[in-house]
Amino acid sequence: MKERVEIINGDITRQEVDAIVNAANRSLLGGGGVDGAIHRVAGPELLEETRKIGGCPTGEARVSRGYRLPARWVIHAVGPVWKGGNYSEDRLLASCYANSLKAAVEIGAKTVAFPSISTGAYRFPLERAARIALEETKRFLEGDTFIRKVIFVCFSQKALEIYKRVFEEVFSS
Ligand code: APR
Repeated sequence: MKERVEIINGDITRQEVDAIVNAANRSLLGGGGVDGAIHRVAGPELLEETRKIGGCPTGEARVSRGYRLPARWVIHAVGPVWKGGNYSEDRLLASCYANSLKAAVEIGAKTVAFPSISTGAYRFPLERAARIALEETKRFLEGDTFIRKVIFVCFSQKALEIYKRVFEEVFSS
């Protein structure tokens, strides 16, 4: 199971995987952070497609093509804004990961790269988010034989260290 998960420090727009996951907002019309980077690299056709999708509720995911990205698909997941922890944030973040992995299987994506959803502008505490991401991914992979590799793309050394530590805790139990 551990061999199906990888944790790296890098830029998600450069990952040569079948699908990358975008930390989008409910409009799916782009934004800053990883959303901005993905739209910048994918080019204007991405926005043309996501505009037609017509939005996505928090906790869910929608699929588009990747256009000029190396990845064939972009799975746009809408994470929760952190409001202190009593507004179902944990459950909504977990469902972002479950719904993104479910969408990956549906489109036939065997390799999937995730950013750290909600931990930037949406201010979700990083370690708490990493634990949710890794626990939910482990739960999904235990019931799936299709997905070959899930890569967590950290954007800082600090995030990498947190993800690696939490990975050891979650995947060695
Ligand atoms: N590759 C990988 N990770 C990245 C990249 C990148 N190129 N750019 C940023 N990140 C990381 C950030 O360091 C953070 O850990 O992605 C994580 C998510 O941060 P945000 O992009 O701010 O996403 P989020 O917190 O989910 O907020 C979403 O921000 O960009 C807008 O339109 C977006 O409204 C939405 C909100």
